[in-house]
Amino acid sequence: MGETPNTSLPADFAYALRKVTEIAACAAAAWIGRGEQELGDGAAVAAMRTVLNRLPIDGRIVIGEGEKDEAPMLYNGETVGTGGPALDIAVDPVEGTSYLAKGLTNAMATIAVAPRGTMFDPGPAFYMRKFAAPGAAKGTVDPTLPTREILAELAKALGKTVSELRIYVLEKPRHKRLVREIHEAGARTMLYPAGDVAGAIMAALPDSGIDALLGTGGTPEGLLTACAIQALGGEFMGKLDPQLHTEKQAVDAAGLDINHWMKLDQLVSSQDVVFCATGITTGLLFDGMEEGNACYKTQTLMLSGATRERQILTSWLQKQEVDEALNAAVPHPEPETVQEGG
Ligand code: FBP
Repeated sequence: MGETPNTSLPADFAYALRKVTEIAACAAAAWIGRGEQELGDGAAVAAMRTVLNRLPIDGRIVIGEGEKDEAPMLYNGETVGTGGPALDIAVDPVEGTSYLAKGLTNAMATIAVAPRGTMFDPGPAFYMRKFAAPGAAKGTVDPTLPTREILAELAKALGKTVSELRIYVLEKPRHKRLVREIHEAGARTMLYPAGDVAGAIMAALPDSGIDALLGTGGTPEGLLTACAIQALGGEFMGKLDPQLHTEKQAVDAAGLDINHWMKLDQLVSSQDVVFCATGITTGLLFDGMEEGNACYKTQTLMLSGATRERQILTSWLQKQEVDEALNAAVPHPEPETVQEGG
């Protein structure tokens, strides 16, 4: 009989994990406003991987940069760390790559960890319908109902009127009807072109000025959000919602159910979740990275499910430390092989 792997995290693990997103954010910040989504993302991926590989964990990427053949680093299934508790890991080294490339607000580096085997693996599912709300709404809102009724149930749970509700929605053509229905019900929308992780976390935080998130966004972002909200004690549910025919075929072939709304515990079944997000550009939750002469200043949201700690940490990172990690992250070309007699 095999031994049960150790999956328990030290109570202060968020402090170690935050370095991963801090340094990824510093790497990505060099690409703010340069119109280069892929280069900015690539810099954050390489930096994140370098720092993750120095942590004393036995980590397995469940939600990463894609399948191994399309992503050389932080691919789904890659193992990271020097050994320790067995963990599932979800990463989005740049959440809001278009914000980063355009120099807009709300780009951030994100990671979540949970005990091995506790994160839902969405396979080829790229899009997910989401509902996020504060913990006061937990178990009270049926996301299959028409929008008007969802809002009525939510308002009741939060002790508000429907007209007081503010709903975060990604501003996308696919949400035209949803936005109309929210307005017809009498509630307000907060429309953003990208960034539903920040929107969902805001929704789960009581008194943040946002009462819920509705609509369809990325599935990887949905899993990261589920981890953050599990740690926060808020409400989150998701249903796979393929947008393209090819995605639908792949999801069907993988045997995934697109009609089932998954509850938070089905998306991440452990409470022992740690989530960190560091601002690249200033956004709804925290400030972006600022470069000084000797330090990089970052702000990181750290959430720990086991202790229910919710903190925003401002760090002044010594440039030397960050630059060493960034240099180590630069992929070095293979040495040229000298042809005999050439
Ligand atoms: P990226 O960093 O991949 O650009 O993600 C930004 C984002 O807005 C997410 O927050 C959201 O879940 C997803 O894109 C929605 O995807 P799409 O823009 O294709 O509708």
